[in-house]
Amino acid sequence: MFTGMGAAIEMRGVTVRFPSRGGEVTALDGLDLTVEPGQVFGFLGPNGAGKTTAMHVLLGFTEATAGTARLFGRDVRESIARQRIGYLPEHPDTYRFLTGHELLDTTARLFKLDGRTRRMRIEGSLEAVGIGDAAARRVATYSRGMMQRICLAQALINDPDLVILDEPTGGLDPIGRMDIRRIIGELRDRGKTVFFSSHELSEVELVCDTLAILCRGRIVAEGPADTLVAPGERLEKVFMKVIADAEASS
Ligand SMILES: Nc1ncnc2c1ncn2[C@@H]1O[C@H](COP(=O)(O)OP(=O)(O)OP(=O)(O)O)[C@@H](O)[C@H]1O
Ligand SMILES: [Mg+2]
Repeated sequence: MFTGMGAAIEMRGVTVRFPSRGGEVTALDGLDLTVEPGQVFGFLGPNGAGKTTAMHVLLGFTEATAGTARLFGRDVRESIARQRIGYLPEHPDTYRFLTGHELLDTTARLFKLDGRTRRMRIEGSLEAVGIGDAAARRVATYSRGMMQRICLAQALINDPDLVILDEPTGGLDPIGRMDIRRIIGELRDRGKTVFFSSHELSEVELVCDTLAILCRGRIVAEGPADTLVAPGERLEKVFMKVIADAEASS
């Protein structure tokens, strides 16, 4: 584990503009965000708010127009910043000609894990995501939910300290959703940091200790889940109000 290196995620004044039909789209508008080690952090916001873009900046896929982003104290432009990161994309896809098992083995080799560690990690992550016998089949034959599960197993193979999940419950059946909750809980119990986006507010309520709500590329509400959502109140109601207020004042 990284220690003494500050926040797991730190974004300061991150702005991202994309060219669009002769003009520009501002996807992130001076985003400030801090995620401390060990937090389970829910990143919420309506469609197009900028959640995926923020994750892409952290992963080095998108360069910020302005501002800085750090992972465990390392600028995201340094490739070493991503060494201890696991990532599940919004639309997971992978090498379809490999079996699930081969995919994980290939990924584990990329991280230069020795044979014993590879076998242990593959077994552990397959069990965690509940792929079962399908691990022996080619990924090309997987259903959407199974693709989601194998890509999550792939994201966990390097035993990451920070796991970035872009809508991890998308496309999953109720059992799959419960599995994701359990996996996130296990990661938290092991001191890992989990940063994830979701539209499933009832799920988010159950797993997050900290929340941020993004609207038009800016944070419009942030804090401990139990402070943002008063006892007896629902996150859905808080979300609606915060977004309505933000839209009214923009
Ligand atoms: N490559 C791109 N080129 C142009 N515009 C983009 C690009 N990527 C994202 N955008 C725009 O940036 C804004 C933020 O998009 P983003 O995908 O980050 O939102 P999101 O919060 O993840 O939404 P969702 O909940 O639908 O996944 C949107 O207006 C989107 O159209
Ligand atoms: Mg998105």
